[in-house]
Amino acid sequence: MNLHIFRTNDDLNEAAAGLFASQLRVKPASVFGLATGSTPIGIYDKLAEWHSAGRVSFARAYSFNLDEYVGLPHHHPESYLRFMEEKLFSRIDMPESHRHIPDGNAESLDEECRRYDELMEDYQTDIQLLGLGHNGHIGFNEPDKSLRSGTHVVELKEDTRRANARFFPSLEEVPTSAVTMGIATIMKAKTILLVVRGADKAEIVHRALTGPITTDCPASLLQVHPSLVVMLDSEAGRLF
Ligand code: GLP
Repeated sequence: MNLHIFRTNDDLNEAAAGLFASQLRVKPASVFGLATGSTPIGIYDKLAEWHSAGRVSFARAYSFNLDEYVGLPHHHPESYLRFMEEKLFSRIDMPESHRHIPDGNAESLDEECRRYDELMEDYQTDIQLLGLGHNGHIGFNEPDKSLRSGTHVVELKEDTRRANARFFPSLEEVPTSAVTMGIATIMKAKTILLVVRGADKAEIVHRALTGPITTDCPASLLQVHPSLVVMLDSEAGRLF
C-alpha cells in the first residue's frame, strides 16, 4: 500500500488529479472507475480546471461509475447520473458514449446488472477511484456476512441512508436500495485510489487498512490489492 497524508485538501486534490493526468499521458484511452459522494468533488474540479487549461484530455478515455440509486429519476438532483454530469462530464471532453453508469431505473434490475458486468468484461480499469462510507462500504458494498463479486442490487443500511440524507430534503426521500459494482469488479482494477477526508472517517479508514480483513468492513479487502494508493487529508489520517 502506498499511503499519502496531505496537509491541505488542495494538495490532496492536486495529487489525485495528477495520478489521472499521468495515466492519460501514458495511455490516452485509459479506463477510469469513478465515484460519487462529496469526496471526489475537489478532484473533479481540478481535472475540469486542467482540462480547460489544455493540460488533460479525456477524448479517448472511458469511465465506469461504481453505483446508482434505484428508482430516482435520471434528472433528480441526487441521481449519480446527474451528479456526474454536473461535477465532471459537462466540464471535460469524454465522449458521451464512453461514459457508463448503472441504470437504477431499468425495467429489470437483474438484467441491468448483467449488462453492466458484460460491458465491463471488455475493458480493464486502469484507475478505480473510491471514497469510503462511515461503515466501511465501498461503492455501495455494505458490511454483511458475505459480499457479492459482480454488479448487484443492494439494500442500503440505515446508517448509509442517514449519512446520505444530508443531500436530500428528508431521510424518507433517500432511496432504500441501489445498484453497485461488486467487490471482484472493483478489485480487478490495475490501480485503486482510495481517497478519504475528514475527522469522522479517521477510525474507519484506520480499521479498514490496518485491522482484520473482513466482510464486516468491505474496504478492508483493499489491503490485498497489489496496487493500492491511499490519499488522506490530515484529519482522516490522524491515526496513522
Ligand atoms: C456514498 C457512495 C460511495 C461514497 C460514500 C462516501 O454512499 N455510494 O461511493 O464513497 O458513500 O461518501 P462521501 O464521500 O460523501 O462521504
